[in-house]
Amino acid sequence: MRRSLGSSYDEIGQSYSATRREDPRIAAVIHSALGAAKSVLNVGAGTGNYEPRDRTVIALEPSAAMIAQRSGGAVSAVQGVAEALPFASDSFDVAMGVLTVHHWSDRVRGMRELRRVARRQVLFFFEPAKVDATWIMHYWPAIRELPTEVDPPGEAFFRSELAVQDVRPVLVPADCVDGFGGAYWARPEAYLDPTVRGGISSFTQLDPAEAAAGHRRLERALASGEWDERFGDLRALSEFDIGYRILVAGD
Ligand SMILES: C[S@@+](CC[C@H](N)C(=O)[O-])C[C@H]1O[C@@H](n2cnc3c(N)ncnc32)[C@H](O)[C@@H]1O
Repeated sequence: MRRSLGSSYDEIGQSYSATRREDPRIAAVIHSALGAAKSVLNVGAGTGNYEPRDRTVIALEPSAAMIAQRSGGAVSAVQGVAEALPFASDSFDVAMGVLTVHHWSDRVRGMRELRRVARRQVLFFFEPAKVDATWIMHYWPAIRELPTEVDPPGEAFFRSELAVQDVRPVLVPADCVDGFGGAYWARPEAYLDPTVRGGISSFTQLDPAEAAAGHRRLERALASGEWDERFGDLRALSEFDIGYRILVAGD
């Protein structure tokens, strides 16, 4: 099996399901983007978050550790990678991917595979052009140097590889249930919790000394009031465009 970019989720995903559960408001956006699709392939499916329960779903995931954390209600997953999908051409109405493409070792090949097996593609991703909206980088600047973050795929890349119909911001609720990278934009104290950081690949891939230094920087900024002075207005918002996008491509 091809190795993914950065660390494998067999290493960094051991406790993923502790903090990574689908947020119902984001799930509604993703499910609406699936349209009338009856058959769905979920690529980089992980523990099964955001998989619709009212359609035929096949899940594909490379990491055994992630597959082991799939809930009893989720369909069982096929082990494999996006770059070599073990399915015949035109097998699915939609191929979906949630917060996964930046981990693929060959994203161009992965896009070709999505187009081959499904006539429509639905992706939920973080738009790199919005990276400055994430104050997290002020405290953990080394995140920008991670292999998955140096040149992550954004709208421009997807437009070059897919017949994109629509790309829209997905506002992240202040009480977002899914603990992905930007989820705690209004709850900075959460990033001081090692369990929270353990569910976010940008932190689990960091050198432990860098992770600890960032922890100390944020802790000091919260104690001194500096964080609230710079970013405290965020605490009053109920949702925010921190850079997540839903994309629909194909027919
Ligand atoms: C952040 S997790 C997202 C999991 C799930 N989609 C979710 O929303 O909870 C990223 C997933 O992409 C998977 N992944 C990494 N490289 C991949 C590849 N080349 N092909 C398919 N999936 C891959 C990882 O193993 C991991 O499960």
